[in-house]
Parts: sequence; structure tokens; C-alpha cells
Amino acid sequence: MHFPFKLFKFIFCILLSTNLILCYDPLKRYLHNSAIIDDKLLVFSGYTNVTDYTYELFYLDLSTSFENNKLTWTLIPEGSLPIYTYQSTTVLSLDNSTIFLYGGFMKDKNTLDYDYSNLVYTYDYITSTWSTPKLGGDIIPPRQDIKGVIDNSGKIYIFGGYNATNLTSNTGDLYNDMNVLNTISNTWTTLSISGNLPNRCSRYAANILPNGIVVYIGGLEQVSTDANFTLVDMNKIKLFDTNKLEWSEMDTTGDAIDSRQYFSSVLTPDGYIIIFGGCSYTPGSSDYSSVSPKLAMLDTSKNPFEWSIPSNSEETSPPSIYGHTANLYNDYMIITFGFNLDTQLYSSSSQVYLYNIKSDKWVTTFSPTENKPSLPPPPSTPVYAPKPKKDSKLLVIGLGLSAVFLISCISITIFVVRRIRQTSDDEVKQTSDNNDLIQVSHKVE
Ligand SMILES: *[C@@H]1O[C@H](CO)[C@@H](O)[C@H](O)[C@H]1NC(C)=O
Ligand SMILES: *[C@@H]1O[C@H](CO)[C@@H](O)[C@H](O)[C@H]1NC(C)=O
Ligand SMILES: *[C@@H]1O[C@H](CO)[C@@H](O)[C@H](O)[C@H]1NC(C)=O
Ligand SMILES: *[C@@H]1O[C@H](CO)[C@@H](O)[C@H](O)[C@H]1NC(C)=O
Ligand SMILES: *[C@@H]1O[C@H](CO)[C@@H](O)[C@H](O)[C@H]1NC(C)=O
Repeated sequence: MHFPFKLFKFIFCILLSTNLILCYDPLKRYLHNSAIIDDKLLVFSGYTNVTDYTYELFYLDLSTSFENNKLTWTLIPEGSLPIYTYQSTTVLSLDNSTIFLYGGFMKDKNTLDYDYSNLVYTYDYITSTWSTPKLGGDIIPPRQDIKGVIDNSGKIYIFGGYNATNLTSNTGDLYNDMNVLNTISNTWTTLSISGNLPNRCSRYAANILPNGIVVYIGGLEQVSTDANFTLVDMNKIKLFDTNKLEWSEMDTTGDAIDSRQYFSSVLTPDGYIIIFGGCSYTPGSSDYSSVSPKLAMLDTSKNPFEWSIPSNSEETSPPSIYGHTANLYNDYMIITFGFNLDTQLYSSSSQVYLYNIKSDKWVTTFSPTENKPSLPPPPSTPVYAPKPKKDSKLLVIGLGLSAVFLISCISITIFVVRRIRQTSDDEVKQTSDNNDLIQVSHKVE
């Protein structure tokens, strides 16, 4: 019984190794970035378990339905990042054509040395290329653990953050300055504001309201220069008015929400900021623990803002995770990757979590909006990039043929595995999961 299984596994892996685009299995990660352009949820960068570094750019297709634990990721081979970065921030340009990537711990891909010679990289979605824009204006320091937002005139606001000054011991300082990147004129400006300055802060959540007010929630702060970093009270919201360039603070009302860092937030069209996940922080300790509730929403249409915990949100909730990302697409908040505090393992790469903001429930099926025209059935081979390259026809034919082989092989493998399962339980445990097989093929690479 051992021989046929090994043979099939071998064929399976050979086929998969010619299908890295079609059957792309991304590395698990956290502290990464994501953005939605053109019905594609793009994911890149972050800190991974296997090598510590990753440069691939890949996406989840949101134009078709899927189950949240049976995903097909697609690699964009030309979209590889020019550097390694984690704990950085990304913001989409106003016309949705360009991703602006700023900061984080940045490393040269060849030498693995820290490299802060360029703090901003841009990804052009149409041509699938990264570049380093020429930026004028003020000199901006490197920062980590920040979150940028863009206003409707194309200015990206980056508040404070962490600057590691000793990269060996990972010690550094928090800041409370406001750095603005004008994406139209390509210039940096450090705003000079003296009144009402908030505490120095990092690892917060940030969302800009339609009226131009940026809402900063949670994270870590330093109440005085020599003080330890401490968690921000979730009821003390920092507000930055991008029209008047003024800071203020607001005391929220409503349900009690644990302080947290490394959590996510999305702003819904009806003015709720939905936060999810994150972890606690204790000075002098690297142990992070889970926070409660996992999900909460802040109603920004009330004055003062009001916290509430949706009654159904604990049901079929994802585990406690931090360092994930959240993106809003129609009625879905989509949570990708992160670190699972319940298992102390990286979140599975074959799973996303879906929260329906209309029904206020965690769901397992994603379907594109009903009001869209129904599309013809998708071709058997996904088109992996907006602009096909010269040799892409051959590649597509190759992929098509391999796909046929692959499907036959999967069927045969499933058949064989079922036969084996009847006789040998132990062997099957390791192999019955397709994902394990895909990972094996990566190691073969
Ligand atoms: C950018 O994308 C968002 C949705 O993701 C959409 O609402 C908006 O209209 C788009 N903007 C442009 C200029 O295409
Ligand atoms: C931030 O850290 C870098 C070293 O990583 C240092 O060169 C720079 O001066 C620091 N910036 C500030 C504002 O302290
Ligand atoms: C940075 O941290 C390392 C390890 O804690 C220490 O040995 C080194 O002296 C520090 N460097 C500076 C410039 O403080
Ligand atoms: C900072 O935290 C450490 C470790 O818990 C503690 O020993 C120290 O007293 C704290 N320092 C201040 C200024 O609170
Ligand atoms: C990292 O990978 C190793 C080897 O696959 C695994 O044993 C370990 O549990 C992983 N760690 C986390 C935190 O996921």
C-alpha cells in the first residue's frame, strides 16, 4: 500500500511544481499588508514563520463566490516586492491605481541588511510594477507600527509610530508627529502643530471619516518621555481634523472594550468603525494575550462616539488573532492571516474570516453582490495578471494542460487515499489534506 501512495504523491508534486501560479500556496504571515483593487484582494509583505521574509504579491479573486476555508490564491509573479518589509502601512491612491507602501522594518533582499534608503515604494496595478517615487519636501524618518489614511485631495496622513533606534535589541521611541505625503505633488510635509498634541503612539487603528476627521483608536502610547509603553484606553479617542490641522480628544460612551494593539479596523458606509482582534501588552514582557470582545463597533454618527458589541458577533467567531488585516468589500469584512493566540500558531493560509456587516454575523460563504450582472462561467485557467506578457499564451496552454492532469491526479489521489484510510490510519493523517501536499511541493522547490 505504501508504494502507490508515494508514486501518486510524486506525480502530484511534479505537476504542482509546474503550477506555482495556479496552485499558489502563500506562506503564513502576520504584520503584513493588504488592499483591494478591481475585485482582487491583494496581500503582500509581513513576517513569516519559515524564512522570516517574504516578497510575493498574490491575491484572492472577489469576483466569484468561495468558501472561507477553500481558497484559491493567485500569484502575480511580476509583482514581487523590491524589499522585505513588515509592520509597514499601505494606502491606495484616490484613483485606485497605485498602492503606496511606507515604512516598517525594511531589509535589502540580497544582503538582508536593514535598508532605509527608500521609505516609500509604489505599486502600479496596471503594469504590475513596483517603483521608488522621487519625493520632495521634508525629510521623513523611518517609522514602524503606523497606519496611513488618505483624504479626498490625495494627502496621506501618517501619525507618530515607532522608530527602532537599536535594531539589535529592538528598542526605540514612539512619536506623535504628523507626516503628510501629498500623492499629487509627491512631496512630504511634517506638520508643525503645537496645540493639544496627543500622546506618542503606535500600533493604533486609523480611519478617516467623510468629513475629513481621522479617528485614532487604541494601540500603544507613552504618557511621558521616560514612561514605559502602555496600552491606550479604548474610550479615549484621538481625533485629527485634516481641514483645520487640529488635534482633539473624545471620551466615548457605550460598552466596555479591552485595550489592545495590533488589531484591525474598517469604516462602514453608515459610519461604524468595526474593530477586530488584537492582543494585550505588558511592559517588559513579550507575552501577548487575547482581548475581549474580539469584535466591537464604534458609532461615529453619535456625539460622543458610542461603542457596542453586536449580539451575534461571538457566535462562530474566529479565534483570537492579532497582526492580521481587515478589508471591507461590499457587505463583507475580510480578515486575512495573522497570529492565532489560541493555538500559538500562525493563522492558516488556506482560510480567511468573513464578517457580514449587514447581518452582523460571521459567515463562511462569500458571494459577490447580487446587483452585479451575472458573469459567464469562469475560464478553467485564471488570468493571473492584468497585462499578459509575450510568452503568456504558452504559459496559459501549459497551465491548462497541467490543470487537466492535476484534476485527474487529485481524483486518483483521493481514490487512493480513501483506499489507504481503510487500512492505515496513521499514514493517512499526514497526507489526506491537499494543503499538506502543496506545502510538500514547495519544499521540493
Ligand atoms: C475605488 O474603489 C472603491 C471601492 O473599492 C470605489 O468605491 C471607488 O469608486 C473607486 N474609485 C475610483 C476612482 O475608481
Ligand atoms: C529613527 O531611527 C533611525 C535608525 O533606524 C535613525 O537614523 C533616525 O535618526 C531616527 N529618527 C528619529 C527621529 O529619531
Ligand atoms: C544595541 O543593543 C545591543 C543588544 O542589546 C547592545 O549590545 C548594543 O550595545 C546596543 N547598541 C547601541 C548603540 O546602544
Ligand atoms: C517599566 O516596566 C518595567 C517592567 O515591568 C518596570 O520594572 C519599571 O519600573 C517600569 N518603569 C516605569 C517608569 O514605570
Ligand atoms: C513554525 O513552523 C514550524 C515548522 O513547520 C512549526 O513547528 C511551528 O509550530 C511554527 N510556528 C508557528 C508559530 O506557527
